[in-house]
Amino acid sequence: MINKTMQDAINDQINRELYSSYLYLSMAAYFEDKNLSGFAHWMRVQEAEERQHAMKFYDFIVERGGKVTLKAIDAPKTEWKSTLEVAEEVVAHEAFITASIYTLYETALKEKDYPAQIMLQWFISEQVEEEKNAAEVVANLKLIEERGTAVLVLDHQLAKRAAG
Ligand code: FEO
Repeated sequence: MINKTMQDAINDQINRELYSSYLYLSMAAYFEDKNLSGFAHWMRVQEAEERQHAMKFYDFIVERGGKVTLKAIDAPKTEWKSTLEVAEEVVAHEAFITASIYTLYETALKEKDYPAQIMLQWFISEQVEEEKNAAEVVANLKLIEERGTAVLVLDHQLAKRAAG
């Protein structure tokens, strides 16, 4: 059975993942409003992934005989200055999530919760991918400096990004 320290820490992470989902949905709405449907699609895919992450943590607590406790989700930002600013915030947010996963892993080590350590290893690998993908979008946007048709080409490319 999961102990209280680990359970509380994972419940907090469920909240962070659901906030991530809410933030990315807000970013999707921002792009939708700007008629950038490819960028909106990218954010919708990210949003769905974050809900899956929350559910992985949720299921882990249930499987270990613990109790999931949901908390209030903060309101996300709704306006950004530019496409680049949104992408940079995705990078910063993913770095924050990575740090929180590392802290959870340290808790799992301290608590000698071996199942939690194994479960968290999946998230550690996932974060490498998440940070890399977001950094790529920032790098591309910087290259084209948000000018002219190049943004539309990138928008088209992002529309094809598969889920998962
Ligand atoms: Fe759930 Fe994007 O990390």
